[in-house]
Amino acid sequence: MTLDEKAELLAELGRAAAACTACDLSEHRTRVVFGSGSPGARVVFVGEAPGYNEDIRGEPFVGAAGKLLDELLREIVGITREDVYICNVLKCRPPDNRDPTAHEIETCKPFLVKQIEIIRPDVVCTLGNFATRTLTGRREGIGRLRRKTIRLEDRYVFPMFHPAAALHRGDLYDDVRKDFEALKQFLDEPPGIEPEPSQMELF
Ligand code: URA
Repeated sequence: MTLDEKAELLAELGRAAAACTACDLSEHRTRVVFGSGSPGARVVFVGEAPGYNEDIRGEPFVGAAGKLLDELLREIVGITREDVYICNVLKCRPPDNRDPTAHEIETCKPFLVKQIEIIRPDVVCTLGNFATRTLTGRREGIGRLRRKTIRLEDRYVFPMFHPAAALHRGDLYDDVRKDFEALKQFLDEPPGIEPEPSQMELF
C-alpha cells in the first residue's frame, strides 16, 4: 500500500471515529482523539486514553506526558513525533481521567486494530498497563512486561512504562528513560528472523 493510500484509509477511519457514539464516552467528550503522525511510521505508540488537554485539542499526547514523550524521543531515540504514529486505546476522554472500563476498551478496540493494520509498523510500543493488556492479552503488570519483545502476528509489541509514570512518581524517571534506551537498541538492531509463535518472551 502506498503512503497516500494509508493516509486516505486512516482519514476515513478517523471520520468514522469522529462520528462514533458506540459508548457513553461520546456524551462527555469535547473532541475525538483519533491519532496523529506518519501513516508510514515504523513505530506506533499506544497510550491509554486522552486527558484534559488532548480532549480539547483533539490530538494525542499534547499535555505534560506528551512533552516528556517528545523529549525522550528526541534525546534518546533521535526521532520526533512526526516520524512515528501516536494514538490511544480509547479515542475519547474518560470523565475525570478515570481508568477505561472493559466495555469501553472492547468497544473502541476495532479502531486501534485497524489503525495498526493500515500502518503496518515494525513495532507497536504499548505505553502502560491498559495498552499492553489490550494488544497482547497478557495479564502481568507493565513492571514485569516492559522491554520484553512480544510477537503479535507479523509485528512486535514492545511494552514500556507510560511516560506519565515518571510524572506521578519521580523515582520511575530513570526506568522510563531505560525503556526508551531499549527501544532505541531494538530499532537499531531489529530482530531479523521471525521467531516461532511459541517464543513469546524476550529474545
Ligand atoms: N496519556 C495517554 O495515555 N494518552 C494521551 O493522549 C495523553 C496522556
